Amino acid sequence: MGGAEESYVRQAFVSNWLSTVGPNVDAFERELGNRVGLTTVALGSCTAAIHLGLRLFNVGPEDEVFSSTLTFIGGCNPIRYLGAEPVFLDCNYSTWNLDPNILEDALRRSAQRKKLPRALVVVDLYGQCPDMDPIMALCCQYGVPVLEDAAEALGSTYKDRPAGTLGDIGVFSFNGNKVITTTGGGMLVSRNAAWVEKARFWSQQARDPGLAYEHSEMGYNYRMSNVLAGIGRGQLEVLDLRVQQRRAIAFRYRDAFLDLSGISLMPQASYGLHTNWLSCFLIDEKEFGVSRDALIRTLDEANVESRPVWKPMHLQPLYAGCERYGGEVAEDLFRRGICLPSSSSLTEEEQLYVINCV
Ligand SMILES: Cc1ncc(COP(=O)(O)O)c(C=O)c1O
Repeated sequence: MGGAEESYVRQAFVSNWLSTVGPNVDAFERELGNRVGLTTVALGSCTAAIHLGLRLFNVGPEDEVFSSTLTFIGGCNPIRYLGAEPVFLDCNYSTWNLDPNILEDALRRSAQRKKLPRALVVVDLYGQCPDMDPIMALCCQYGVPVLEDAAEALGSTYKDRPAGTLGDIGVFSFNGNKVITTTGGGMLVSRNAAWVEKARFWSQQARDPGLAYEHSEMGYNYRMSNVLAGIGRGQLEVLDLRVQQRRAIAFRYRDAFLDLSGISLMPQASYGLHTNWLSCFLIDEKEFGVSRDALIRTLDEANVESRPVWKPMHLQPLYAGCERYGGEVAEDLFRRGICLPSSSSLTEEEQLYVINCV
């Protein structure tokens, strides 16, 4: 926590605005909206935001939705919530994010089959944006709307534009492990204010105007509470500091490993700011001397928690049999990639301990 969170939370208690309406929710939406320059709605999670975003794109049964394969499952499951089927697209080594060439191929082949995807969900992996200009140009050419899953990337940029603002709809996560947190929460953002209002309506059980509790459309209980929005307001004040801290940890590890061969930091694309939400490294077993799995086990024995890079969606039992384009790069990154402890609360001594263990 940054310090101001408690006073915002106390205001919620003192004023008795404890539920899903109140001054903190309004202010958190306004303050994050000012930061990214878009209209916003605060929600209970980023998974909920993706669900609503895809519904705004009219995703439904029989539809296909393109998705980055190297991502967290929360970014993908909402496709199935709506009865649609995901089609998984590979990433490239230069960004670990969606490969525009793979997207081009997939769109061309879908157009030939006369079944274009209803939408694309593209992730900003581990705090870094993909090369979005060619991705947006292709999707515009084929008329496919884009949901930018910036769950892991609040505070990062692409060509001086904030992550989350690069697609037609953007979403953020304030889950406990993110760069900033509301303990759990999410935000949907868009230039299209009518979409944001519709998402707000659905997130509050889609209650029609009027005195009676009348409902003509399916809704959800997806709103963020005024208490948690208070935490978000305080966290937003320290967002830039938290980003600096995350980046400093990643670069400290990188510099400390300079004399080791076979361990390299996730690429930092020159077009933007990578928050290094997680400090991810790639292990070359031959050069490094031990495998990625052996490194994870050794760290675990030293009480250091590390983990593999996300298991690609096309390898998940839940999504067995789904169509995919490529996948080998994501599989290789999954097998050789490791996420080292990255929390901004890690002390210098703790970072040194991790370095010495590696
Ligand atoms: C890429 C990605 N998408 C979606 C989510 C889901 O976010 P939430 O936990 O807020 O629902 C997460 C992480 O939690 C994520 O890392």
